Amino acid sequence: MKPNTLSRAFDAGDFEETGKALVKFLADTFTNADQRTVIPYKTPEEQYRYWKEDFGKQGNPLDLFKDVVDKSILYHHPHYMGHQTAVPALPAVLASLVVDFLSNGMGVYEVGMVGNTMEKVVCEHLCQKLGMGTDAGGFMTSGGTLATLTVILTARAHYMHHLSKGPSDKDKLAIITSEQSHYCIERAALTMGISSDRVIKIPVDEHFRMRTDVLEESYRAATAAGKKVFCIVASAPSTSTGTYDDLETIGRFCHTKGVWFHADGAHGAPAIFSEKYKYLLKGIELADSVVMDFHKMMLTPGISTAVLLRNRADAFDTFRQEAEYLWEKQDFEWQHGGKSTFECTKSMSILKVYTLFKQFGDRIFEEFVDYQYDLTREFARQVKVNPHFEVAHEPDSNILCFRYTDCENPNEVNAEIRKRLTAEGRFYIVQTSLGGNVYLRVTLLNPRTTAKHIGKLLETIVETAKTCTKPLRRPDFDTK
Ligand SMILES: Cc1ncc(COP(=O)(O)O)c(C=O)c1O
Repeated sequence: MKPNTLSRAFDAGDFEETGKALVKFLADTFTNADQRTVIPYKTPEEQYRYWKEDFGKQGNPLDLFKDVVDKSILYHHPHYMGHQTAVPALPAVLASLVVDFLSNGMGVYEVGMVGNTMEKVVCEHLCQKLGMGTDAGGFMTSGGTLATLTVILTARAHYMHHLSKGPSDKDKLAIITSEQSHYCIERAALTMGISSDRVIKIPVDEHFRMRTDVLEESYRAATAAGKKVFCIVASAPSTSTGTYDDLETIGRFCHTKGVWFHADGAHGAPAIFSEKYKYLLKGIELADSVVMDFHKMMLTPGISTAVLLRNRADAFDTFRQEAEYLWEKQDFEWQHGGKSTFECTKSMSILKVYTLFKQFGDRIFEEFVDYQYDLTREFARQVKVNPHFEVAHEPDSNILCFRYTDCENPNEVNAEIRKRLTAEGRFYIVQTSLGGNVYLRVTLLNPRTTAKHIGKLLETIVETAKTCTKPLRRPDFDTK
């Protein structure tokens, strides 16, 4: 190649040199994570101005990568306790490089030979762990939200093919879930033309668990109103409080009624690896489908989600279409990823989690779940013995909602505490609303976070709360 712009983009020497320097920079960032802020917060307007100006200037990739890392939230910081996004294990980060170097497409076997096969192997392993039966299997898709839509479409296709009395049923289809389930369930239903009055939300008990005692009554009321309940979705666990629904009771109920049972294990299905905590998933073996995000509780960079089905071939019915230019046979064939998923070109994301299984086996996930679930119980303990705070619930998983109570207006003060913490950047936590009240919310996902960091966070919250009674100065949030 002549030395022009294009040839520089394919220069192996540059690639090697920049790659080495980049890995060194990332390793140093990881090692010294606690020397910087967890979130170097800037307003959207400030970010926009910065990157707009940057975009106009040419530069080398290494400086760009350093700049991006320095200006981003750092999940590897022990004070990252925010959303449920995994802190990626370092071998899985290296796998990401291979995924993007190969950039295999996955839709047809030839362009995803390794990836499609790895998906089959890993998903079969997970189905076997979950006890889903010998016909079970699965595939990867891009995120829990898309996976949920895939599953609910599959449940509908199953109902229409096998159980429905006729096409007019389609306009009466209904789903049951709890009022604490993730919003992607209702979103999937709305996308499919199932109106919100046909997404029946069962109330939760004082532990934020679906009230199974009203399931029968809700089902009957729906049926009496002419609704055809084809799918019940349980949370394993829910997003706000990390509470596992009673999967066994819900699963049995579904089997009695002949309704599809979906367990949303996007966050917490990996508890199956833990001898100590797998009791929380009792009944998951009854599920027709399970969604499991590797980019939440499996130390894997996003986006990487498994759709697991009791009958693997069901997914093919969902997307049955003819595409002669892609596939010779128009029947189900696992090796052609595009036959089972929304995506045609799809990332070979499976390599990231496969790398962790290969290097460490199931053991890494057991250690991880045990550590984080134990640490969250320790967090709750520290909150409960501290007179400034209260917990909203006992933790089932590694999610905890709590709040500062030593004030007259806890809703405003807790919201303000969270804003100030973020603007200051020393800790990253989030907030949620439960029963109309504002709670601070943590998800513990970082193997480097310890009981000491939790103590420091609580101290920082108390200090911050004291400043919230004074006139507010919010440089990073009040934008011109
Ligand atoms: C229980 C649950 N289900 C589904 C989702 C959606 O997953 P994703 O963010 O991968 O789209 C989430 C996300 O937080 C979740 O907590």
